Amino acid sequence: MVEESVVLTEIGRGVATITINRPEKLNALNAAVRSQFVATLARLEENADVRVAIVTGAGEKSFVAGSDISEFAGRTAVDQFRVMRKYAVYSAAEAFAKPLIAAINGFCLGGGCELALACDIRLASERARFGQPEVNLGILPGGGGTQRLARLVGLGQTYKMVFTGEMIGAAEALRIGLVEEVVPPERLMDRARELAAAIAKKSPVALQLIKEAIRASARTSLDEGLRLETTLLGLAFSSADKEEGVRAFLEKREAKFEGR
Ligand code: COA
Repeated sequence: MVEESVVLTEIGRGVATITINRPEKLNALNAAVRSQFVATLARLEENADVRVAIVTGAGEKSFVAGSDISEFAGRTAVDQFRVMRKYAVYSAAEAFAKPLIAAINGFCLGGGCELALACDIRLASERARFGQPEVNLGILPGGGGTQRLARLVGLGQTYKMVFTGEMIGAAEALRIGLVEEVVPPERLMDRARELAAAIAKKSPVALQLIKEAIRASARTSLDEGLRLETTLLGLAFSSADKEEGVRAFLEKREAKFEGR
């Protein structure tokens, strides 16, 4: 029997749409999803036709409702450590060398919320619900929910979400800065593709360096970050894309970037 893919990918006009496809389990992350998702990102990174990627969940109800809890029962500390190391979903998303947009269509809980946090931009449907419910299982977030969430929305909102495990709606997520935009459910994928298409027109070299620089801001001192920014700007000056961008401006035409 051929196992059906739990991570689907569609590519068109420079934009890859990755759909986590276990709608009957609200797209919960099991071992198959984790391994296919990490492999998908690696493949898309190598594909020069892909300039931006969108991550979403299959079905109407859920983006990702967290880690698959059925895999937790009986799992030992060593098993858990190995799973986290083997399928490093969150660090793979964060380290993906191209812009990554989360299109959040419903439940965005636990590992789902952490996956969204590891993306660069988060768009949410009005129906999206967010939460870090791990505390209800007697555990804590393990995919960045105590770290990336705190950096994005601040300590107080993070304590509130992670201590209580309660869900918040899209409007509240927007208010606290957990998502960048909220749109009606039927507009979500169009808006994600519109944003992705606008970014896909930019220089892939510049986009990669920008992502590198902004990611570093969470890890470095301001001085180190500013030094890195200067170095990366120097690198951008050695690219064919920079020559094309500057020439296109001076010639009053649209730039055609090739990612070199
Ligand atoms: N892991 C495994 N299975 C999950 C899951 C998860 N994180 N989230 C949902 N599912 C499964 C349910 O067990 C159910 O499967 P079944 O039909 O075989 O019984 C199916 O997905 C549908 O979920 P259901 O609970 O019936 O939907 P609902 O609308 O009543 O409730 C939620 C939705 C999201 C509130 C509820 O599913 C939930 O609390 N899920 C767990 C969220 C969580 O704690 N995530 C963090 C894990 S660390």
